[in-house]
Amino acid sequence: MKKILLAYDGSRSAEKALRKTFEIAEKFHSAVTIMTVAPELYLTELVEVDRKGILEKIRADAEKTMQKIQKRARRLRTVKTVIKQGDAAEEILKTAKRIKADLIITGSHGRHGASKFLLGSVSAKIIDHAHCAVLIVK
Ligand SMILES: Nc1ncnc2c1ncn2[C@@H]1O[C@H](COP(=O)(O)OP(=O)(O)OP(=O)(O)O)[C@@H](O)[C@H]1O
Ligand SMILES: [Mg+2]
Repeated sequence: MKKILLAYDGSRSAEKALRKTFEIAEKFHSAVTIMTVAPELYLTELVEVDRKGILEKIRADAEKTMQKIQKRARRLRTVKTVIKQGDAAEEILKTAKRIKADLIITGSHGRHGASKFLLGSVSAKIIDHAHCAVLIVK
């Protein structure tokens, strides 16, 4: 538990995962990377100007979220934040490999989940494909 990667999407479940991450990181003096993946734009009919504006807004929102988290994480020794764009699970798995995370933490559900019973598709994909331990916080 030296290097923890937390996947954070602002959902209630991710918020619980964030608190658990802080708890674990304080105990084990782990380095923590918190990442959020902004959605990709598939709306091909948008003109380039609209696309640029929307992408900038998405990016700014993600940055604001991450800044707030940085503030809350000040007590921890090392916290990095990462913002990516694309498929959430794929980007999280890629980053986990790149930073050589030995633990990925996610919430059980996210912002778009319809079912309270099944795992969200992002956390399910992560647990299927991760090369390290995964903690799914309920
Ligand atoms: N865009 C994202 N960026 C970072 N982490 C994410 C993102 N989406 C999901 N996660 C992580 O995965 C956890 C589970 O969310 P997930 O998206 O799998 O569930 P859901 O939204 O309920 O269902 P689904 O997206 O399959 O409809 C979240 O609590 C969060 O930790
Ligand atoms: Mg989701």
